[in-house]
This record gives sequence, structure tokens and C-alpha cells, in this order.
Amino acid sequence: MKILIEKDYEAMSARAARIVAERIRRKPDLVLGLATGSTPIGMYRHWIGMVQAGDLSFTDVTTFNLDEYVGLAGDHPQSFRTFMHEQLFRQIDVKPERTHIPDGVAPDLAAECAEYNRLIEEAGGIDVQILGIGKNGHIGFNEPGEDFGKLTHVVRLSENTRRANSRFFPRLEDVPTHAITMGLKSIMNARQIVLLAAGTDKCDAVQRALYGDVTEDLPASVLQLHPNCVVVLDEAAASKLPADGNNGKWEMEK
Ligand code: GLP
Repeated sequence: MKILIEKDYEAMSARAARIVAERIRRKPDLVLGLATGSTPIGMYRHWIGMVQAGDLSFTDVTTFNLDEYVGLAGDHPQSFRTFMHEQLFRQIDVKPERTHIPDGVAPDLAAECAEYNRLIEEAGGIDVQILGIGKNGHIGFNEPGEDFGKLTHVVRLSENTRRANSRFFPRLEDVPTHAITMGLKSIMNARQIVLLAAGTDKCDAVQRALYGDVTEDLPASVLQLHPNCVVVLDEAAASKLPADGNNGKWEMEK
């Protein structure tokens, strides 16, 4: 694991954007795992700028998002499909048919999960997976207690997560109770992981994920077992980390 610490959210976003852009330039048909939430928006803005400047192209890139709410159709204003369309897809040259997000209103959710796993496999697996982290250490929608061995599946959202995400909805009651998410095994299957976190709100989860026990109680801790994981933080999110990377437990660059 490699930890990169940047001054603030903007510098973190720029650094992460450059890392992934470089991967796309070297492999234009990259299979890219994407995330929602506020954290990656700055990185997405940088990619949009690069595409508009002619420095980057997503035409041959295939994308798979981590998750979607159960019960929200793709065109629902709060669906993750709408979020991705607004924040990224409509502003870059990605081919719509190459973008994948689970269908939250599929009549058979188990079949939808199986199909999502099949599509990822058919694409050759995920080359680079972007992740944010929840305050309780969730990644995707894998809440504390989630089995490390699962691929895409349906989860019940914790009340904390529903409350955290209610800022995107008119009322708390409107936040769905369930979601489809790639599992921790799907995430660990990615060849490279780029985890982003910013703000003091995340410093405890980040500290526990990187330096605590590897435990299902803190889903992001599984990333300690990944052979190629880059963590890009701002100083606030890194504020509880040992200054020296814990005597070389992890490579750290400031
Ligand atoms: C959500 C998403 C996660 C995201 C997390 C943090 O619930 N399912 O993929 O990483 O919350 O979100 P934010 O970046 O807004 O803090």
C-alpha cells in the first residue's frame, strides 16, 4: 500500500486524476471502476478538463460503478446513474454503452447481481477501482460486518449511511433502505485500487482502515491485503496517521 498525502481536497483530486489519467493513456481500453459520493467529484472535474483540452480520451474505456440504490430507476434524480451522468459521463467522450451501473429496479435483483459479475468478468476484470470511504469504514455499500468473500449483492443500508446520504435527498424517508453493491471480493479482484479520502470527518476511518486490524467490522481494512493499493488523502483525512508511515509499514509520500 502506498499513501500519498496532499495539502487539500483540490490537490488530492488533481493527484488522483493524474494517476488514473496516466493509466488510461498507457492502456486506452482500461476497465475502470467508479464511485459516487462527494469525494471523487474533484477528480472527475480534472478528467473533464483533460478531455476538453484534448489530453485524455475515454472512448475506449469501459466503466463499472460500485453501487446503486434499490428502487431507484436510472433516470431518478437521486440515482447513482443520474449522479454519474451529471458529474462525469455527459461531459466526457465515454461511450454510454460502455458505462455500467447496477439496475436498481431490476425485477430479479439476484439475477441482476449475477449479470453484473458476468459483465465485469467478460470485460476482463477491473484494472483500476476508484473508492471513497464512509465514516464507518464502508466501501461501496459494504457496511461493517459484511463478509469479505462476496461479489455483487444486495445490502441493507445502515441508518448512519442513510443519514449521511440523506443530504442528496429531499427527506430522510426518501433514502432507499437497500442497495446493490459490488462486494469486497469484487473490489479486491481489481488489479489496482485508488482510495480517496478528504476532510477530518474521515480521519478515524482512514486510520483504522490502514493501521487497525483487518476485520469485517471495518470493511476498508481489507485493502491492507491488496497488492496494489494507492491511497490519496488530503492533510485533514491523514491527520491521525503516523507521520513516518509507521516505520515503513506503508510507503508514505507527502
Ligand atoms: C456512499 C457511497 C460510497 C462513498 C461513501 C462516502 O454511501 N456508497 O461509495 O465512498 O458513501 O461518500 P462521500 O465521498 O460523499 O463522503
